[in-house]
Amino acid sequence: MDIVQTIYWSKPNFRLDTGSISQEVRDILNAARRKNPVLDITGAFVFTNNMFVQVLEGPEYNVMKTMGTIARDERHRDVQVLTSRERQNRDFPDWAMAFAPDTEANRRVVMEHCGGKAFDPRTLPPEKIIGLIKALVGSNAAFSVKPDFAA
Ligand SMILES: Cc1cc2nc3c(=O)[nH]c(=O)nc-3n(C[C@H](O)[C@H](O)[C@H](O)COP(=O)(O)O)c2cc1C
Repeated sequence: MDIVQTIYWSKPNFRLDTGSISQEVRDILNAARRKNPVLDITGAFVFTNNMFVQVLEGPEYNVMKTMGTIARDERHRDVQVLTSRERQNRDFPDWAMAFAPDTEANRRVVMEHCGGKAFDPRTLPPEKIIGLIKALVGSNAAFSVKPDFAA
């Protein structure tokens, strides 16, 4: 059955240092790890250029419900949905919620994908954003937080 894939970006309301995973991010990932599998939701979560970009994919109702919860979360602001579209396959089937932090290595990956410019999700088509997120998650296995991650 088709799934819905939603991509949004937002601004964090807490401080995030380059190369580290803050307690807030750990808390968010733990909530995602606990709740997403129950709702058959998978996805990825990236922090770069002082913004979050998150992909949520799964049954339409569950994605909408989770998006509603996330949009009200005071740990971030200016939540902007870039796209919400039907898909036949998931892009992150193995992840309750993959994560790629803002590291020097990741900044280089972002630059490569954005033609040397700073990341601006508004100027990138969904496929490019997905490609970038996949590259970020894949190139940072050690930093990525898998479903079996334990804080
Ligand atoms: C940027 C961001 C991403 C989040 N992603 C998810 C997610 O993928 N799944 C989820 O259940 N909660 C996510 N949350 C957390 C929810 O907003 C909410 O805090 C959580 O679902 C509440 O769970 P609880 O009431 O059961 O503790 C996210 C929050 C933020 C700020």
